[in-house]
Amino acid sequence: MDEIYITTAIPYVNGKPHLGHAIDYLFADVLRRYMILTGKKVRLQVGTDEHGSKIYKTAQAQGLATQEFVDQNAKKFADFIHSLGVEYTDFIRTTDPDHERRTQEIWRRLSDYIYKANYEGWYCEGCEGFVSEKEYAENHGNCPDHKKPYTRLSEENYYLRISAFKERIRAAIEADELKITPAFRKKEFLNLLADMPDVSISRPKEQVAWGTTVPGDDSQVMYVWIDALSNYITVLGYPDNDISDYWPAHTQIVGKDILRFHAGLWPAILLGLGLPLPKNLLAHGFITVNGEKMSKSVGNVVDPNEILTKHGLMAFRYYFLRHASSTDDSDFSWEKYEAAYNELANDLGNLVQRLATLCKRQSLGQIDVRPVLFHDFDSSMKKYDFSGAFDQIWAVIQSLNKRIDEKKPWALAKTNPVAATEELKYLAGTLLGLCPQLSIFLPDTASAIMGIFSAPSIEAPETPLFPKN
Ligand code: MSP
Repeated sequence: MDEIYITTAIPYVNGKPHLGHAIDYLFADVLRRYMILTGKKVRLQVGTDEHGSKIYKTAQAQGLATQEFVDQNAKKFADFIHSLGVEYTDFIRTTDPDHERRTQEIWRRLSDYIYKANYEGWYCEGCEGFVSEKEYAENHGNCPDHKKPYTRLSEENYYLRISAFKERIRAAIEADELKITPAFRKKEFLNLLADMPDVSISRPKEQVAWGTTVPGDDSQVMYVWIDALSNYITVLGYPDNDISDYWPAHTQIVGKDILRFHAGLWPAILLGLGLPLPKNLLAHGFITVNGEKMSKSVGNVVDPNEILTKHGLMAFRYYFLRHASSTDDSDFSWEKYEAAYNELANDLGNLVQRLATLCKRQSLGQIDVRPVLFHDFDSSMKKYDFSGAFDQIWAVIQSLNKRIDEKKPWALAKTNPVAATEELKYLAGTLLGLCPQLSIFLPDTASAIMGIFSAPSIEAPETPLFPKN
C-alpha cells in the first residue's frame, strides 16, 4: 500500500492555539515526512472543530456573531500549524457546507442504528460528553480535566446503538487490527469499553443552537462528536467519493483525553457505515508546564508563539521531538528549554560551524554523501517512538564531535593536508548522510547543512545555525 493517510484531532476554536495543541501536529508531521522518505504518498488532514455550546457561549460572551468568531479563530489555528513547519494536504472546518451536508448523509446511513430515547445523566460541557454515575462518584461531581461541576441533563435525544458493535470493536482492538499505542492505553480503554453505554448523538436545538441539524428533525442538532469525528472521512469526500485509496487511515493521532471517543464511538460509526477501522491510534500524553497541568486559573499557560520567537522553529521542534515523549506526559519549562537549546547549539550548531570553516580552509566543496546505516531507526519510527529515533541521529552527531576532537583535522592540515582533507570529507560526508533522517525532525536545519556542504566551495555560515545570545 503506497497511499498513507494520517489524521490529527481537530481542536475546538473557542480560544487560540496553546502549547498542548502543537504536539498532535508535530507528531503527524514527523510521521508524514518519514513516510514520504520511505516512498509513500501521504495525505495529512488537519482542521478545526467549530460547533457546540461552548463555542456558541464564548462567541456570545465576546459579543461576536458565532460564524465571525469561528472564522477568526480558525485562521489562528491555520497560521499556528504553518508556524510549526507542518505541511498538511487538507484543512477541514466543521462549518464547511460540504462537511455539514456529508455529515447529514452519514447520519442517514446510520439510521438503522439510531433510536430516540429520554436520557438523564451527568454532562461535562468542557468535554462535551456524558459520564457514568460511577465516574461521577469517583470524581466527586467535578470534571478533573475542566475543574467544573458536572451538570445534570435530562433530554430526549437520539442514540447510537454502540452495543451492536462493542464485541467487534473489542476483538479488533485486542487483535491489534485497530492497534492502540501505547499498550497501557489500550488496556485502559478495553476496561472502559465494557461499561460503555449507547451514546446520545444529538442535543435539542434550544440547548445547543450552534450545530448541524439532524436530518428529518429540525428540533435537534447533532452531537459535536458525531460531527467532529466524521471530519476524518468527509475531508476525503465521503460519501460522495470513493475514499478507498486513503481509508482506512494508517494512523490517527489524538491526545489521551479523547482516546475514548476515537476508540469507541468512532469505530462504531465506521462499522455502522460498513467502513474499515483505522489501522493505528496513537494516544499521546499531555504537555505540562513546570510539572503542572496548564490552566488559565493557575496562570501557567505558555503561549507557543513566545517559545517559537525565542530561538526559532527548529529549536521548538528539537525540544518537543527529542525531549517530549510520544506516549507519556512531558514537561516544558524555560530552564529545560534553554538547556536543550544549548545542546542543539553545542552539538550540532558548533559542529557545522567548525567543519565548514575547516573545509573552507582546505578549499573543499561538493562533499560526497556517506549514507548512515541505522539499526533501529525504522523500528523506532514504526513504534511511534519519535524521540528514540531522534536520539539515534543525535548519537551519530555526538560521535562526529568526538571524532573531530580526536583527529584534530586543523592540526593534521599542517602536517598531512591529504589526510586532513580525507578526514574532513569523512566528517562532512557523514553529516550529509544524516540529512534525510534529520530532515524529518529539523527540516530547515537539514536543508541548511545540505546547502553548505554540497556547495561547489564550502563557506561557513556568517551566523551560526543556532547562535548563542
Ligand atoms: N475538538 C476535540 C477533538 C475532536 S477530534 C475529532 C478536542 N479539541 S481540543 O482542542 O480540546 O483538543 C485538541 C487536541 O489537543 C487533542 O488531541 C487534545 O488531546 C490535545 N491537547 C489539549 N491539551 C493538551 C495538552 N496540554 N498536551 C497535549 N495535548 C493536549 O478535544
